[in-house]
Amino acid sequence: MKYITLHNGVRMPQFGLGTFKVEAGESAYETVKRALKIGYRHIDTAIMYGNEADVAKAIKDSGIKREEIFVTSKFFKLYSGDKEKIRKDIDASLSRLDLGYVDLMLIHWPNMDEKINQAAWSVLEEYYEKGAFRAIGVSNFQIHHLERLLESAKIVPMINQVECHPLLAQFGLQKYLISKGIQMTSYGPFAKGRVFEEPTASEIKSIAEKHQATITQVIIAWGLQRGIVMIPKSVHEDRLIENFNGTELVLSQSEMERMNALNRGARVYTDPDNNAVT
Ligand SMILES: NC(=O)c1ccc[n+]([C@@H]2O[C@H](COP(=O)([O-])OP(=O)(O)OC[C@H]3O[C@@H](n4cnc5c(N)ncnc54)[C@H](OP(=O)(O)O)[C@@H]3O)[C@@H](O)[C@H]2O)c1
Repeated sequence: MKYITLHNGVRMPQFGLGTFKVEAGESAYETVKRALKIGYRHIDTAIMYGNEADVAKAIKDSGIKREEIFVTSKFFKLYSGDKEKIRKDIDASLSRLDLGYVDLMLIHWPNMDEKINQAAWSVLEEYYEKGAFRAIGVSNFQIHHLERLLESAKIVPMINQVECHPLLAQFGLQKYLISKGIQMTSYGPFAKGRVFEEPTASEIKSIAEKHQATITQVIIAWGLQRGIVMIPKSVHEDRLIENFNGTELVLSQSEMERMNALNRGARVYTDPDNNAVT
């Protein structure tokens, strides 16, 4: 397993399991247990996914030491900046996860009002300072959201988790994040299936064939080699294994350049500047 070190010194597995749309109950429990058995050591959940309790139960039942597993969650309701309401949601998340601490907590989506983001961030800072979270960060923040947040932040976010895949490579945002010491995590690495469609599929397949690899493995290797944290989701054992094995693949410089050239600036998830008000 490859690790990256966040700006506060916390080590984070660079590859993990996404759990968006992994149904609460049996499905989430079994998927996480299966992933941990394969070797995954990083699980990405969120209050919105409704599966935090199942993720936690699978971790506890896995027999793997708590400190070997990295757990991320996210809260999405910002209640117009009402800190007490935000604390209630965070406390509920902590009690569903019930793992002693959460490795990383993120603001799931920015609000268009920077004061609301700043209020939510100050709540995260409180929890970080008392040790409930080992790291804190944001998700779906554009450069302008971060610039406003940093005006009042005591702590620079350790992570920004954003949509990133071959059709939306996020080169500009990544450059900005590196300049601030903020680690980028990619979500939606397969662009809701668009990477399996032409003309993208043929180009990635021709790289994959040289390595006896698959499209998803090439995408995972491309992200990891760019220094990005990758968290693909699957509920199928064969795909969990396939994606996990993608962490071993090494692409040449010219293959990386061919992957980079697929960028079209095309979003398939919500535009953070036009998301529903949180
Ligand atoms: N912060 C945010 O706002 C945000 C937004 C979206 C997602 N996320 C996080 O990022 C994670 C990943 O994003 P995502 O789940 O949206 O998309 P994804 O990882 O790109 O997965 C998309 C679909 O690809 C399929 N898939 C996985 N491995 C495959 C393989 N080897 N071959 C063929 N198909 C495969 C999966 O279906 P099967 O399960 O049927 O295999 C999955 O439904 C999420 O689970 C979540 O944790 C965060």
